[in-house]
Formats: sequence, structure tokens, C-alpha cells
Amino acid sequence: MTLKNTADRWGAVSQSLHWLIVLLIAAIAVIGLTMTDMHNGPSKIKIYALHKSLGLTLLTLVTLRLLWRIYAGAPAPVAGTPHWQERIASLTHWALYALMFALPLSGWLFNSTAGYPLQYFGLFNLPKLAARNEELAQLTRNLHETGFWLLLALVLAHAAAAFYHHLFQNDATLTRMLPGRRRSYDAIADAANGHGASSADAPAPLASTVSAPASPENRNAP
Ligand code: HEM
Repeated sequence: MTLKNTADRWGAVSQSLHWLIVLLIAAIAVIGLTMTDMHNGPSKIKIYALHKSLGLTLLTLVTLRLLWRIYAGAPAPVAGTPHWQERIASLTHWALYALMFALPLSGWLFNSTAGYPLQYFGLFNLPKLAARNEELAQLTRNLHETGFWLLLALVLAHAAAAFYHHLFQNDATLTRMLPGRRRSYDAIADAANGHGASSADAPAPLASTVSAPASPENRNAP
């Protein structure tokens, strides 16, 4: 598997960041949903600190992911995908990026305006984004909470779409985001032309594996 994204597949860097971020968001969400009901005490303070440090890690990883995405582009849409589905997928992906930034930033802003300290895993302090302000604290807290429910709804729709493609459309939308043997465009073309790998070795001609190489525009649309 290549590090960089190709015309028909996500590369190792994008895949690793995608799944690492999925795990991180799941952990932050579970902690965030349980910590508010805890009794005041040292455990509660520790778990809040963990939630914040993981949120800051998310902010860093999402920044790296977006920079890599701009540098490495994206695979072309899976062949045969209707235009309206491409548009919805693209809008959903951008909305997910926006929320992955908005959630940690609104949390940081809430933390600052509420007057709480912020440390990264106890290693160093982070600056306040704004001065203490009760009204702004209330607003950013609401944004943080509403943003989470919006993210959850979008993630559920996004994952359902990926599984729908895999189970019912039988295409490579999901598998090209998973590690594994590369089903290359060239190998498919070779198999179709009767040379290269034997037909027993040749990967099944999934729609996306024969998609045309990405044009400059669609390689930059998520
Ligand atoms: C079980 C959960 C998930 C599954 C099965 C899944 C699956 C996928 C797949 C298959 C793709 C590639 C789509 C394509 O090639 O057109 C993708 C892309 C993407 N996923 Fe997920 N995903 C999941 C959870 C998440 C979560 C939690 C987030 C973040 C909140 C997320 C954010 C994204 C983004 C932003 C892209 C677009 C990447 C880009 O264009 O740079 N996904 N996902």
C-alpha cells in the first residue's frame, strides 16, 4: 500500500488518520457523556483533564489530516456513483471536518471563558483563548454540546452510507478506506486484457477499482 492517496484508493497515511480519529472521537464522546454525572472529587478532575487533553490531540490530528488531504488529494468518486450522491458525500465530509475543528475549539473557548486551567496531559499549560466571561461561557458550552449531537448524527449517516455501499452496492467505497492488498487499477486493466495476473489471482472487478484516475478538481473535493 502506498503512503499517498492514489486515483482509486486511500493511502496509508489517510487511512491511519481516519481510523485513529474514529477511535479518539469515540473515547472523547464516552468520557464527555459520563464525566458530567460524576461526584465532585479528584477522579472527576482527572477525567475532565483527560477529556480536554484528548480533545487537543484531536485538534492536532485533524489539522495534520487536513494538511495531508490538501497535499495528497483524494481518490476519484467510485465509478457509477450518481452525481447527487457525490455532492451529498462531499458536503458531509466537509461538515465532518468543520465539526472536528469546531468541537475542540468551542471546548477550549468554553474552558477559557469559564476561567478553568488547561494542561496537555499534565505536561504543559495552554493559553486562554479569551478572558473570563460568563455569557460567552454559556454560549460556547451550548455550541460544544449542540455540535456534539450534530457530529453524532452526521457520523451515523456517514457510517451507514459506507456500509450501504459495501453491503448493497457491492462497491469499494468502504474497502478502499481499509488496509489490505491493493486492488490496483492497472491489475484490473491487465486482467481484463488477459495478461498480467491470471484470472484466479485477479481481484474482483469492483466498480471503484476501475474508476478513472482522479481529475485535478475531484482529487481535491472530499
Ligand atoms: C464506523 C464509522 C465509520 C466508517 C465505516 C467510515 C467510513 C469511511 C469511508 C469508507 C470513507 C471514504 C469515502 C470515500 O472514499 O468516498 C470515509 C471518509 C471520511 N470519513 Fe469516515 N467512517 C467512519 C467514521 C468517521 C468519523 C467518526 C469521522 C469523523 C468525525 C469520519 C470522517 C470522515 C471524513 C472527513 C472523510 C472524508 C475524507 C476526506 O475526504 O479527506 N468518519 N469514511
